Amino acid sequence: MCEKHVFVSFFVVVAAFISSSTALLAPDFIHPCNSSESECLIKATQDAIPEFSKGIPYLGVPSLDPFIIDNLPIQLPGVKVTFLDGKVTGLRKCQVLNVEAYLEKNVFILEVRCNITIKGKYTAVGRLLLFPINGEGDSKIKIVNSVIKMNIKTKYFKDADGRDHFGIKSYRYTFDYGERIHYTISNLFKGNAELSNTVLRFLNENWRVVTEEFGQPVVDYAMNVTIETAKKFFDAVPYDELLYVPIPKY
Ligand SMILES: *[C@@H]1O[C@H](CO)[C@@H](O)[C@H](O)[C@H]1NC(C)=O
Ligand SMILES: *[C@@H]1O[C@H](CO)[C@@H](O)[C@H](O)[C@H]1NC(C)=O
Ligand SMILES: *[C@@H]1O[C@H](CO)[C@@H](O)[C@H](O)[C@H]1NC(C)=O
Repeated sequence: MCEKHVFVSFFVVVAAFISSSTALLAPDFIHPCNSSESECLIKATQDAIPEFSKGIPYLGVPSLDPFIIDNLPIQLPGVKVTFLDGKVTGLRKCQVLNVEAYLEKNVFILEVRCNITIKGKYTAVGRLLLFPINGEGDSKIKIVNSVIKMNIKTKYFKDADGRDHFGIKSYRYTFDYGERIHYTISNLFKGNAELSNTVLRFLNENWRVVTEEFGQPVVDYAMNVTIETAKKFFDAVPYDELLYVPIPKY
């Protein structure tokens, strides 16, 4: 009885050892495609986004939803805005519109539609619409149905164990702000609630122009965070766990 028990335990330990030595690094929400057809890539990307955006601590991949903006200074014409203790949410629900991979040409195209909320504290010093501004308070920006198109130049490289990986060489993107952006900003003009509300109403009525000025640095920052996060993931997980298509010669 006892001997059998020991034997079974031994077997379990060996089995665990064997399976761990061949275990995949990729988390189970990664469903590799057998070809680089768009239809499969779109589905695989959509499957991965909700979990991927939570972060993958054991691979050193930080969270994208929420992601934290500690301190982001933005110099606008006439006004210096600083975002503090910011939190960006919504990326886990992005809808994948298109994915194309050209493995030989090192091109990867990704198009998503997202609702994004940015919340945090801000300071704003300078002049806004003729008025001297010295604001400090809470802000919330809601972006509805923005469409982000990324065109990524990829590369391949080998890690220290000789396994192939995807890499990101450079990227370009376009960001269409979508249908509507709602700004909620408290205390734009310290001690003058009436003027603060008037200007806030103006910002919301003219959200498209306002956002073109103001949004670019925020979006650049967010894209950089996203790309840096993807790089960490590709550094950690080998090519052959992401795509079941032979890697091109490189
Ligand atoms: C890839 O092929 C394997 C084996 O035929 C199959 O089990 C798997 O479902 C396929 N994967 C996709 C994403 O179609
Ligand atoms: C974004 O929010 C709008 C309005 O609430 C909703 O109709 C739309 O489906 C959402 N889009 C995505 C990509 O989740
Ligand atoms: C992107 O982020 C990395 C790491 O956080 C940083 O070193 C780099 O300067 C950033 N690049 C841009 C263009 O902001």
